[in-house]
Parts: sequence; C-alpha cells; structure tokens
Amino acid sequence: MKPKFGGGHRRRVPIMTWCRASFAVTVVGLLCQFTTAAAPPVVMDDPEFTEPIVNVTVPAGRSVKLGCSVRNLGSYKVAWMHFEQSAILTVNSHVITRNPRITVSHDKHRTWFLHINNVQQEDRGRYMCQINTITAKTQIGYLNVVVPPSISDSLSSSDAIVREGSNVSLTCHVDGYPKPEIKWKRDDGLQININKTLTVSEWAGPTLELHRISRLDMGAYLCIATNSVPPSVSKRIKVSVDFPPMLWIPHQLVGVPLGYNVTLECYTEAHPTSLHYWTRDNGQMLHDNGKYKAVSVQGMPSYKVQMKLTIVDVSHTDYGVYKCVAKNSRGETDGTIRLYTSHPPTLAPELQRTENPSPSGIPALGPQWSTDGSNGLENGTSNEANGKDGKKDDDSVLNEITRSGQTYNKPKNSVMYNRPETTKNSSPRLIPTVSAMVLTAVIIHVFSRQNERRMM
Ligand SMILES: *[C@@H]1O[C@H](CO)[C@@H](O)[C@H](O)[C@H]1NC(C)=O
Ligand SMILES: *[C@@H]1O[C@H](CO)[C@@H](O)[C@H](O)[C@H]1NC(C)=O
Ligand SMILES: *[C@@H]1O[C@H](CO)[C@@H](O)[C@H](O)[C@H]1NC(C)=O
Ligand SMILES: *[C@@H]1O[C@H](CO)[C@@H](O)[C@H](O)[C@H]1NC(C)=O
Ligand SMILES: *[C@@H]1O[C@H](CO)[C@@H](O)[C@H](O)[C@H]1NC(C)=O
Repeated sequence: MKPKFGGGHRRRVPIMTWCRASFAVTVVGLLCQFTTAAAPPVVMDDPEFTEPIVNVTVPAGRSVKLGCSVRNLGSYKVAWMHFEQSAILTVNSHVITRNPRITVSHDKHRTWFLHINNVQQEDRGRYMCQINTITAKTQIGYLNVVVPPSISDSLSSSDAIVREGSNVSLTCHVDGYPKPEIKWKRDDGLQININKTLTVSEWAGPTLELHRISRLDMGAYLCIATNSVPPSVSKRIKVSVDFPPMLWIPHQLVGVPLGYNVTLECYTEAHPTSLHYWTRDNGQMLHDNGKYKAVSVQGMPSYKVQMKLTIVDVSHTDYGVYKCVAKNSRGETDGTIRLYTSHPPTLAPELQRTENPSPSGIPALGPQWSTDGSNGLENGTSNEANGKDGKKDDDSVLNEITRSGQTYNKPKNSVMYNRPETTKNSSPRLIPTVSAMVLTAVIIHVFSRQNERRMM
C-alpha cells in the first residue's frame, strides 16, 4: 500500500524515494512523517531548475558550496544526494547525513546551497540536486577533490650505505590526486647509471634500481612527485657506496741528493674516508715535525685523497723504504716507496725541484717515448686491485706499474695495494682518465730516468 499525503499523487514518488533510500536513518523516518503530515500546497507551475550545478574542483581541506537554483518551488522540497555513496545528504533545510561537515542553506528558497567543510577525498563524486515532483527532477554537479603530491617518509627509502657492487633499490611512496608522476634525478645533475648498458638523465617510476652500484654512483638522488596540483614535492636520498681503500703510487722509486727536500706521493680512494699515515719500513709511524710534513689533500669526488710526505733536508738515514697506509672500516692497504741517493742536478736550475726530476725536452705524451720497440712496461708489475680472488674484471682493475729496468725489483704481489676484508662482491672501477694520467706520469718518469742513466 502506498501511503498518500499532501495534495495528491504528484508529490508521492520522490518523497517515497528519499524515505526508502534513507530507510536506516531514523531522522529521515521522522522527516518523512513530518512531510507526510504537511499541508497540501497551492497548485502552481511545476518547479524547475534555472541553472546547471557548477562543477567544482577543490583541494582537500578547503570548504566548498554547491548551488542548485530552482524556481516555482512552492511547497516542493529540494534534496541533495551523493550519487556514489547513495546517500541523502539534505532535504529542504534539514541535514540528513551524519557527516558533521555538511550543512545546507538557501537563498529565499531559490538557490539551495550544499556546504561541505574541510573537503575530503571521499567527498569526490557526483552530487544530485533533486526536486520531489511526481517524476523527480534531478540535476547533477561534479565535485572533484584534488590533493597535492606528498611523499611518505616512512614508506620511502631513507639514506643508504651500501657496498660497492651491490644492487640498490630506492623507493618513493607518493600520495596525491590525480596520481602523481614520480621521477628520479641526481642532485648533482649527473647521469644515473642504471646498469652497465643503461645511463639516463632521469628515471620515471616509484622505484629506482641501480644494478651493481659503483663509487661513481655515490651521491644524493631526488625523487620528485608532481601532479596538476602545486606544489611538487621531492625527497633527497643519499646513497653512500663503501669500498676498501685502494692506492696507487706514481713514483715508487724516488731519487734525491743529500740535503734536499723531497715529497713522496700516494693516491688513495676509500669510502668511508680512510685514515692515512706514513711509516718507515720498520713500521714506525711518521709524525709531523721538523723532519716530516704529511698532508692529505681531498680530491674530487671526496673519496679521492692525495697523500704527500715531505722529507726536509734529506740525510743518510732518510734513504730507504717508506710506506703510505690507508685504512677504513672495509679494509686496509699500503704501498711502498723507496728513496735512494741521486746526484745533485748539475744542469738545469729548475732541477732544484728535487722530487720527480724531469728534464726538459721530453715529449709530453705519446707513444714515441719507446725507441727500442718494446713498450718498456713489459716487465712492469700489473696488479689487480682486488686480485686475490683471482677474478679479472677489466673495469675493476687498478693497474700499478713499476718502472722497468730498475734494479729495485719487487716480487709480483708486493705491489698489490688493496687488501679488502673480503674480496668478493667488491668491484672498484678505475676511472680511465686517472689510470691514463698515472700511466703517463709513470711513463714520463721512466723516460726521464732512462735519460738520466744514459747521461751518467
Ligand atoms: C560537469 O562535468 C560533467 C562531466 O564530468 C559534464 O558532463 C558537465 O557538463 C559539467 N557541468 C558543467 C556545468 O560544466
Ligand atoms: C643484482 O641483480 C642481478 C639481477 O638484476 C643479479 O643477477 C645479481 O645477482 C644481483 N647481485 C647481488 C649482489 O645481489
Ligand atoms: C638495464 O636496465 C634496463 C632497464 O631496467 C633493462 O631493460 C636492461 O635489460 C638492463 N641491461 C642489462 C645489461 O642488465
Ligand atoms: C726545505 O724545506 C725547508 C722547510 O720547508 C725550507 O726551509 C728549506 O729552504 C727547503 N730546502 C730546499 C733546498 O728547498
Ligand atoms: C723483460 O724481461 C725479460 C726476461 O725476464 C727480458 O728478456 C726482456 O728484455 C725484459 N724486457 C724489458 C723491456 O726490460
């Protein structure tokens, strides 16, 4: 049985629709009774909408009002509903929903405003304004709730310390609506090495995978989240790549006349930063005093350090073996330099610079230095930095070349400068330019030595 109310059939259907739809809401029950009991309106033109509902896009947290304009409403009622939630929000000037953020107001019964305070994402959707004519009149407006991107720190990667050679996966967990796009960049603007064959300036997606990370990949990575809602956000994730110290020596044999000053040099790479010091062959550590001056110069990138030991006013007891030592939590290594007596220079005054004498007139670079057909390095010792596991990987080799033709001959393995605590999984790459530079230095030095000997 359909209950009858008011001025006949015209009002029955929509009211009943609301009453049925909000069956569970006791307030509505009361309202329906109230409506049912209302006096019949004076018959007039059917009510109608005068303007469409304006679609609204609003950032979450704001307040919004949707307006529904009608004329000839008479004693009909206007209800607001949320289509996706199948919820009746308001009827006339009564709030039906229990959502405390929703209120309703009207401008002389002509424009009915649905107010939503502190808009949330769940408010997104279609809003229906309905008049309870026999055939209910309905119009729909769309509320879009947008949310600027945000990065969840707890669900994203934090700064990482990894071993060289391991695989690294960085993740950024991003919220926002519309769904933000995520891209990764290096903070220093350099390219990102994804793997051996793939290098990119930026990477898209929530996860950045770095395959077999090297020391060159050390640095800060930014994940940047963007959608149409400003502002974009970013998170900076620092990746530290640890590796045991390695070391190379441009000049392993250094000649200096009595009474001169001389500077010995070692180059190291280590991360975390290593401890550096010099010893004599008896293991005695050399401290800064009037005789010795040891400095470590940090290079670029900062894991490169140049160690320099200056020996002032060389005396007889200063000749012999010196060791430069680099130590960090991943391992320790040392290298040897032998200081021997040479004759004071007699020709060019610039040879006063006692270290690394290099006579002028030598071609700076190039292969011409070899005159006898051999490359002069045949008998040089070539070492793998991580050679102890017997693995030979071209980009993991740190070449160390001793001078050929020197009376001072080291057993092959004695120039192995890298003693990592474990040799597996560690694959230092020698930067080619550095190796070329060192090689050049050695070559020039060898040449100058040979010349010197010829002159003697
Ligand atoms: C509101 O958006 C819907 C689609 O989302 C569109 O069909 C309708 O025309 C829009 N209304 C107005 C008044 O722009
Ligand atoms: C790194 O990932 C590759 C596959 O992408 C896998 O073959 C390799 O074993 C991984 N290395 C480590 C150290 O987990
Ligand atoms: C490098 O990474 C890209 C993207 O993940 C992949 O398509 C490609 O196969 C990888 N190459 C190697 C050599 O692993
Ligand atoms: C050696 O170094 C000391 C101290 O730095 C300096 O006083 C002296 O002049 C230098 N001697 C030569 C030969 O350069
Ligand atoms: C290298 O050593 C071999 C023998 O050990 C010798 O025959 C050869 O001449 C040496 N080469 C050079 C460049 O000294």
